Amino acid sequence: MQINLDFTGQVAICTGGASGMGLLSGQKLAASGAKVVLVDINEEGVMKAAEEIRQHGYEATGVVADIRFYDQVEAAAKLAIEKYGQIDILINACGGASARIWKCHDAFRDRDPEIISWGIDVNLKGALYFIRACIGNMLDHNHGVIINFGSVSGEEGSAGCIDYAAAKSAMHGVTKSIASLGAKHNVRSCCIMPGPVLTRAAMANMKTAIGRAAEPWEIVDFILYLCDDTHGGFITGSSHLLDGGRLLAQF
Ligand SMILES: NC(=O)c1ccc[n+]([C@@H]2O[C@H](COP(=O)([O-])OP(=O)(O)OC[C@H]3O[C@@H](n4cnc5c(N)ncnc54)[C@H](O)[C@@H]3O)[C@@H](O)[C@H]2O)c1
Repeated sequence: MQINLDFTGQVAICTGGASGMGLLSGQKLAASGAKVVLVDINEEGVMKAAEEIRQHGYEATGVVADIRFYDQVEAAAKLAIEKYGQIDILINACGGASARIWKCHDAFRDRDPEIISWGIDVNLKGALYFIRACIGNMLDHNHGVIINFGSVSGEEGSAGCIDYAAAKSAMHGVTKSIASLGAKHNVRSCCIMPGPVLTRAAMANMKTAIGRAAEPWEIVDFILYLCDDTHGGFITGSSHLLDGGRLLAQF
């Protein structure tokens, strides 16, 4: 079966758009016809990423924003609407384990509360802020798909990064709530929960039943399938584990 994905005429916002799966989602959506807004705190990275998409002949804009702050999130969503007319797709890819990013290996009992707060803000609050900033436009023009990123860590727990696991498992509730809110308005929402993905070489060390980590495209192609109304149009409110069998009891 040939699967043709076509996002011609649609506008997509990808958070975490300077690297990893946020960037790859933006690249693939643009190559499939969407006008793409990449959002990231990394100014050099996000501007370079958008420029490279344009050099391939597709449409993309880079926006610098820290998703922890609603005024910056709202400005990014407004820019997308002003420049491209609407928002059809929101890929909430921004995130990361606070323990890794802040190189903080203290036990939770000793962890700096600021780091816990950062973990919740970047992995949960920022996604809610982006949904808040985009959903009105989606409801008004009767079309939208919102993809949230959970993680296998949210399913199995993570003693080393409790805020990350908490934020990622909360994405189920966010996704179901937005799916309920949007269902009568052709606005869908799904959550994907990756196991280890090779956006960083170190992820190869995380065990899975099938004996390897995922290539980023293996996750992103599934996201594009969910976003495409022809293929994914019946799928909403659901969370999808893409973990190479890591959560199987025996392997
Ligand atoms: N890579 C994995 O193995 C894996 C596994 C499970 C879940 N995930 C989740 O998938 C998503 C994408 O992961 P990835 O590995 O592709 O990400 P990545 O680390 O490559 O990219 C994350 C991006 O978010 C940006 N960012 C960080 N803080 C920000 C802020 N405050 N405001 C705006 N941008 C900010 C970073 O600059 C970076 O470009 C994340 O939510 C991650 O938690 C990843």
